[in-house]
Amino acid sequence: MLLQIPNFLSSQALVRCRELTASADWVDGRVTAGTQSAAVKRNQQLPEDAPGAREAQRLILDALGNNGLFLSAALPLRVFPPLFNRYENGMDFGSHVDNAIRTHIASGQHIRTDISVTLFLSAPEDYDGGELIVENTFGSQSVKLPAGDAVLYPSSSVHHVKPVTRGARVASFFWIESRVREAEKRRLLFDMDLSILSLREAQGETKTAVTLTGCYHNLLRMWAGA
Ligand code: NI
Repeated sequence: MLLQIPNFLSSQALVRCRELTASADWVDGRVTAGTQSAAVKRNQQLPEDAPGAREAQRLILDALGNNGLFLSAALPLRVFPPLFNRYENGMDFGSHVDNAIRTHIASGQHIRTDISVTLFLSAPEDYDGGELIVENTFGSQSVKLPAGDAVLYPSSSVHHVKPVTRGARVASFFWIESRVREAEKRRLLFDMDLSILSLREAQGETKTAVTLTGCYHNLLRMWAGA
């Protein structure tokens, strides 16, 4: 499932993240790439310990924790601290699959990457190209979102970023280890959760809503790792 989340960042948090990344010292993006992806990765990245990166990470993690749509879709167990990348004219990232396990150097924590997230920090009118292309069983989808919007997609999918041909594309990206490992099960729980919400909005607290909520939690109990 590919899910777009509008206004993931508040306008205030977005402005601050843009300020922090604008004044940063960018380095070669291959610092975090695996062997295959290093060969096709041409972009810039912010070092994890860069001044400002921590504050921007905190803003993004706070936004994540307060976003019901995100939490329902991702069911996060662990979140890799958000990273930041930048594509200038001529930069791109060829086809690759994200590494299955990421190790956060500072904490030594290992995270299985179930869901990849891209949070757009640049406005789409500020650059040409730079679309995120995600391939799935129904073909490929092109994603280029307003600043502050995020997209979630399965880390198992082949994806690439098209060359930027004008301006600069700045984004945050990170990975989620979900409590529910299989994408199909997450999708089912997500659809069920949203349907229960709209049922409750339309009809209030009914016996049916209570029963379905019980089904949701019992499926989660069956499938979730804590
Ligand atoms: Ni990737």
